[in-house]
Amino acid sequence: MPEPKDPEFVPEGVDLERPNPARIYDWFLGGSANWAIDRAFGEKVLETFPQARTIARTGRDFLGRGVHYLARQGVTQFLDLGSGVPTVGNVHEIAESVNPDSRCVYVDNEAVAVAHSRVLLEKHGESSRHAVLHGDLRQPDDIWKRALATGVLDPEKPIGLIVVGVLYFLGPEDDPHGVIARYRDLLPSGSYLLSSHLTEDEVPDEGGTEREEVRQQYQRSSSQLYMRNREEFTAFFDGFELVEPGVVWLPEWRLDERESKASRKYANTPQESSSIGALGRKP
Ligand SMILES: C[S@@+](CC[C@H](N)C(=O)[O-])C[C@H]1O[C@@H](n2cnc3c(N)ncnc32)[C@H](O)[C@@H]1O
Repeated sequence: MPEPKDPEFVPEGVDLERPNPARIYDWFLGGSANWAIDRAFGEKVLETFPQARTIARTGRDFLGRGVHYLARQGVTQFLDLGSGVPTVGNVHEIAESVNPDSRCVYVDNEAVAVAHSRVLLEKHGESSRHAVLHGDLRQPDDIWKRALATGVLDPEKPIGLIVVGVLYFLGPEDDPHGVIARYRDLLPSGSYLLSSHLTEDEVPDEGGTEREEVRQQYQRSSSQLYMRNREEFTAFFDGFELVEPGVVWLPEWRLDERESKASRKYANTPQESSSIGALGRKP
C-alpha cells in the first residue's frame, strides 16, 4: 500500500465528491490525509471563523490529557470511537508512553481514517495489541462484538472508552444518549468514558453569527453539527461517576497532565474553546 503522504493515494471507499469531517479535521490539525475538496472547505471555515483550527487542536489536546491520565490510573486498554485519521498523539502512542503493553482498538466510519490507521499500525503496531475497525459507533452491539473478536481487548478488565470530538455528529434521531448508555452497560465495571462536545452554552455572543455560518457550512457538506448544552452533555455520563473536575471547558480539564499548547491559548478564556468535556468511571 502506498504511503498516506502520496497525493495520489486514495484509499478504497473514499468519497472525493464531498468534503469529509475526518479529513477536514486532519487538515485543521496539520495532517496530510486530506484532499483539495477538504482543504477548500477548511479554508472557508477558517475565513468565517478563524478560531476553528485552535478549537480542533484544543480538542486533540484534551484527548491526549485524558488518555495520559487514564494510563496513569492503570487503564491499559482503550476503545476509541470516531478515532479519526491518525496524527500526532494517537491514543495507543500516549497510552504506551505510560504502559508499553497497552492495547487499543480504533473505530471510524470514514474509509480514509481507517485506511491510514491500518497503514500506521501495520508499520508500527502489533496485531495482538492494536486493531482498526471500519464501523458506525451508532451500532454499539455490532461494534462491541467486532472489537472483542479482534482479541485485543479483555472484556473482564477495565476499558477506557474514548468518544472525543464525535458526538456532535449524531443527531436526535440517532439517539446518542441511548447509544452511549448501551456502551456503558457493555463495559466492565471500573471502565471509563472520556468525551467532549461542542457547545453554544455560555459561549460569548461574540462570533455567534460566524459559528452559525460554520454550522450551516457543515450541514451543506457530508455531515451536520449538533451542539449540545451542558445538561445534555452531562446526561451522557448517567451511570458513571464524574472524575474531578467534572464537566468543564476543555482548557480547564487537568491542563497540567500533558503538554497542551493550543489549550494554553484559552487558559484565561476557556469558553472560547466552545467545547466541554469530562471523564466518568463506571462503578
Ligand atoms: C472531529 S474527528 C475527531 C477525531 C478524534 N476522536 C480526535 O478527537 O482527535 C471526528 C471523527 O468521528 C468520525 N465519525 C463521525 N461519525 C461517526 C460514526 N457514526 N461512527 C464512527 N465514526 C464517526 C469521523 O469520521 C471523524 O473521523
